[in-house]
Amino acid sequence: MRAVTVGLGDRSYPILIGSGLLRRVGTECARRHEGRKCVIVSDSNVAPLYASRVIQSLKSAKFDPELITVKAGEKAKSLKVLQACYDRLAELRLERKSFIVALGGGVVGDLAGFLAATYMRGVPFVQVPTTLLAQVDSSVGGKVGINLDAGKNLVGAFYQPGFVLCDLSALETLPDREFRAGLGEVIKYGIIYDAPLFAQLERDMPKLLKRNTPALASVVARCCEIKSEVVGQDETESGLRAILNFGHTIGHAIEAAFGYGRFLHGEAVSIGSVAAAQLSQEILGLPENEARRITALFNAAGLPTTLKLTASQRAKVIHTMTLDKKASAGQVKFVLARRIGQVEFGQKAPADLVNATIKNLQPSPQIG
Ligand SMILES: NC(=O)c1ccc[n+]([C@@H]2O[C@H](COP(=O)([O-])OP(=O)(O)OC[C@H]3O[C@@H](n4cnc5c(N)ncnc54)[C@H](O)[C@@H]3O)[C@@H](O)[C@H]2O)c1
Ligand SMILES: [Zn+2]
Repeated sequence: MRAVTVGLGDRSYPILIGSGLLRRVGTECARRHEGRKCVIVSDSNVAPLYASRVIQSLKSAKFDPELITVKAGEKAKSLKVLQACYDRLAELRLERKSFIVALGGGVVGDLAGFLAATYMRGVPFVQVPTTLLAQVDSSVGGKVGINLDAGKNLVGAFYQPGFVLCDLSALETLPDREFRAGLGEVIKYGIIYDAPLFAQLERDMPKLLKRNTPALASVVARCCEIKSEVVGQDETESGLRAILNFGHTIGHAIEAAFGYGRFLHGEAVSIGSVAAAQLSQEILGLPENEARRITALFNAAGLPTTLKLTASQRAKVIHTMTLDKKASAGQVKFVLARRIGQVEFGQKAPADLVNATIKNLQPSPQIG
């Protein structure tokens, strides 16, 4: 088992990474939590696969677990589902010392984390992420929240878990498309922070796609380390944390303009990263061969790197970008790469260059 520490002073916590760890949830909770009562929040795909293992483990450690299962999908991050969860917690007489276990992907982590942050002004919680995206990204860093009709993640908090437990064997049942989408975020970490990780991903992509445990353990641990380092330096996103948004400015706009559901988040990030790499060539002098390696690695992970757009769809993507909550006064800022492993945030780009870059995402016509 590997352990990565998220260093946030007295709110520091460990991320435990390894195979078969679901069976250890109980003992890990016993080290940290006093209350006997706890509530597992999971979704309708994950609960049938893994909830019994976690319940068993908690019972063996003398806890008294209850299970709340929400319908799988982004819609679970809503006020309606949150309200139903609050009601259930009250019914179960959850107390201040009781704790919540988030068992699932980023949706469950964000929802259960926000529930924990707000119920009785905060009860402890534990993250047990079961998607690759949740293991390397959403479970680390303390952002929790739900969506409103007006937009994603508009209501939320910064609330750190007691610990995070990443069971790599839980990834075996993850649908292929979801797994590849998680690799999109993994590649991002190489681009923004760690050229050797990027090279390791180039070498190990075939193993990772087979979900080889040692290859995954090394990569998940490194990504968690990077996110922890970044978050440790900038917990509430006043500066450095912005680098985590590489590929996300255009990626989010693609997701929103096409309607959530057409692309998975990691797929949109893949396309957005290819666009950001192109902008980086123009603005920060990212060498052409590095931009090519970036596109090639997303392709090797089976992620999309081109996008067919009509002129009106292109206009919609650009318009959506200016509405992004991270754009201040309509000025879109990008995270751009100088080299693989070294990025700068807060970069402005001329509108015509952005337009041309998005146009360039068009797949090149097949020859022959
Ligand atoms: N808090 C943050 O910092 C942060 C960062 C990135 C993303 N997010 C949020 O994370 C969410 C996306 O997370 P996600 O990609 O994990 O999606 P998700 O939670 O919807 O999970 C994807 C799908 O996989 C299923 N699933 C999960 N684990 C499984 C397993 N082991 N085996 C089989 N099926 C499994 C789920 O039921 C779901 O259908 C978004 O809401 C996004 O806003 C949050
Ligand atoms: Zn992301």
